[in-house]
Amino acid sequence: MGFQDVGEAYLLQEEPIQNAGSWPTTLDMTIALSKVISLAEQQPLTHGLAVATLSGALAQTLLKSEHDQKLAMQSGLLHDIGILPLLSSLSPEQEALLPHHNTAIFQGHYEKSQWLEPHLYFPTEILSLLHLDREIIDWIKLHHCFINKTGLLPKDPPLKPPTLGMNIVTFSHSVIDTLYHIPNSLQRYEKAQHFLSQLPACQFYSDIVETFQEQFSTPESFKLLDARRITTHFQSLYPQSAQPILLNGSEILHLCQWISNQTDARQGKYTQHEGTLTAQLMVKMGKRLNLPLHELGQLALAGLLHDVGKLAIPLQVLNQHRALTPQNRESIVSHTTILEEIISGIPGFQTIGQWVGAHHECLNGSGYPYGRRRHEIPIGARMLAIADTYVALTQARPFRPSAYRPKDALDILKNQQGRIFDPSLLELLEASIL
Ligand SMILES: [Fe+2]
Ligand SMILES: [Fe+2]
Ligand SMILES: [Fe+2]
Repeated sequence: MGFQDVGEAYLLQEEPIQNAGSWPTTLDMTIALSKVISLAEQQPLTHGLAVATLSGALAQTLLKSEHDQKLAMQSGLLHDIGILPLLSSLSPEQEALLPHHNTAIFQGHYEKSQWLEPHLYFPTEILSLLHLDREIIDWIKLHHCFINKTGLLPKDPPLKPPTLGMNIVTFSHSVIDTLYHIPNSLQRYEKAQHFLSQLPACQFYSDIVETFQEQFSTPESFKLLDARRITTHFQSLYPQSAQPILLNGSEILHLCQWISNQTDARQGKYTQHEGTLTAQLMVKMGKRLNLPLHELGQLALAGLLHDVGKLAIPLQVLNQHRALTPQNRESIVSHTTILEEIISGIPGFQTIGQWVGAHHECLNGSGYPYGRRRHEIPIGARMLAIADTYVALTQARPFRPSAYRPKDALDILKNQQGRIFDPSLLELLEASIL
């Protein structure tokens, strides 16, 4: 499998073609999606991986079946997937509460957390794309439900308390929120002792609490949750029998389309389908360059994903038209580097990662994040800069209620050719839109 597979799915909707090489599995894409969720919650990128790793360590001791161990780890990765479709209906103030929502529920603020109830539901289209077992729907639905059936409950409250496996994920989530931000093992250990001493008896099965105490009885044992090694530790705990499979091009494309749509919907009417429109232009330009199918596939995915890193930028900053403070500017610059980090972590996606990371670079070196010049900027990034700006100009924005007409948008781009945009690639855009 390979990018021609995505190109094929994009252009022809035909059966995927086989090609050897580095290519993502269901697990690779689940991890990447977990990072996007963490980004949207303003949590560290590896928040979901940390919840999954601790869940895996406890599940290995407490759950007999490898199937349930796998579900515990997958639920740890994706527990807050329901946040992504919810973003479009949240106020900036509600968004700011997202990183603390689990702690608020853990501390008993159930009423105040009711606005978060919709995030308990799993967008089922993702189930088939990632080949997930349907059982995970219930695991995620109850990720804030304690064994006394309190917490943030779904509209149809469970008849039975959460299972041991589900409760492992809920427990792990609270532990990670309590101590993952602390870099030092000794301080983590001390924080965990404090956490355990305050723990109400009615929230978690005693077996879980006891197993955690046994497994994490020394400061040294907390190295399992070291952020720099969390991916390796996660992989070492993932059940051997749960062999992830390679995704086909159509699945990758639809997953990226879904992620792109959630990101665009967050900014409401202003960025509707921006990723999809950018992908269309990228592919049109690529076809005029007679690029092979696998490169068209890469261009499509880069167009879809290029601004997913904006999830890390607070809404107030995104929608404001006043001059940016240095802190705001930093968060805007990081939307490129943080996404490059996520995408480059997907096997075979390094080129796409470089393109999206450099989509705000300018030919004259005045862009960000690296200030690269001319051919130091990869061609895919130079194409993205053009397609992204063209799509933005031809849409309304909060500070510019009416959109530019195609011809006027093109003239604006041409005014900056040689300084910001690559003139030869601008010709491709012109030929693609006229
Ligand atoms: Fe949650
Ligand atoms: Fe979380
Ligand atoms: Fe951008």
